[in-house]
Amino acid sequence: MSSGCIDVAVDAAREAGDMLAEMFATGVRAERKGRFDLVTEADRAAEAIVLRRIQSAFPTHQVVAEESGSHAGCGAGYCWHIDPLDGTKNFTHGYPAFSVSIALECAGELVVGVVYEPIRREMFAAERGAGAFCNTRRLCVSPVNRLDRSLVTTGFPSARRHRPASMRLFSRIALTTQGLRRTGSSALDLGYVACGRVDAFWDIGLNTWDVAAGLVLVAEAGGCYSNLQGGRFALGDPDLLADNGALHDQIVRLTCEEVQAG
Ligand code: IPD
Ligand code: CA
Ligand code: CA
Repeated sequence: MSSGCIDVAVDAAREAGDMLAEMFATGVRAERKGRFDLVTEADRAAEAIVLRRIQSAFPTHQVVAEESGSHAGCGAGYCWHIDPLDGTKNFTHGYPAFSVSIALECAGELVVGVVYEPIRREMFAAERGAGAFCNTRRLCVSPVNRLDRSLVTTGFPSARRHRPASMRLFSRIALTTQGLRRTGSSALDLGYVACGRVDAFWDIGLNTWDVAAGLVLVAEAGGCYSNLQGGRFALGDPDLLADNGALHDQIVRLTCEEVQAG
């Protein structure tokens, strides 16, 4: 169904990511999209590369890309979700943590996910039913099953980032785990859950392009994901918990307590 798609996504992510690494070295000027939200010429240039590759290989597929929006297709059921530069704030501040994220959804199912981190030259790629890989290494989530032995990541959206429940959750997770990290790229966070560098990730206010690729990685590496209350996460839902499976119930218990407290 998706054969050939993963190769196109990997090539697109590599070309866009390697160009981002060059632009990162020289620095780019940022413009404001909102009070805290930024966009740069690098976001647009990377998106143009990915769009060109995807649309020339699959001209009938629909594409949703962060900077240019929705591009209609006529190939029933196929939709690409593209974040050309996930971690724009890191990028503009010279903080070396950002990625290119590309996913393919087919008839409502996520079937391909590619996240490329060009500074470390790590290509995370997964195809539904065929496992997840980082470069040539097969990925597997961590076996950690105690919060006090876990490392967790989170993120903050550009808007509505001070929801009381998420701030309280931030403090509870920070106090009950070995550590809480904030990479600034949700696609990378999910790649890190898939490869076992971190044991869990949660974030709020997400868009499809932030997480679609990473969700394929987590699922194919043996992890799981849900909304913050442990219910089904549907692509487009804003709040996400993704983890190694072994910690899922413990984290859901904490998140439910905080979400119910308002
Ligand atoms: C952001 C990053 C961040 C997440 C934000 C996203 P951007 O994406 O993924 O980790 O917490 O919600 O908006 O703006 O750098 O593409
Ligand atoms: Ca993003
Ligand atoms: Ca982005």
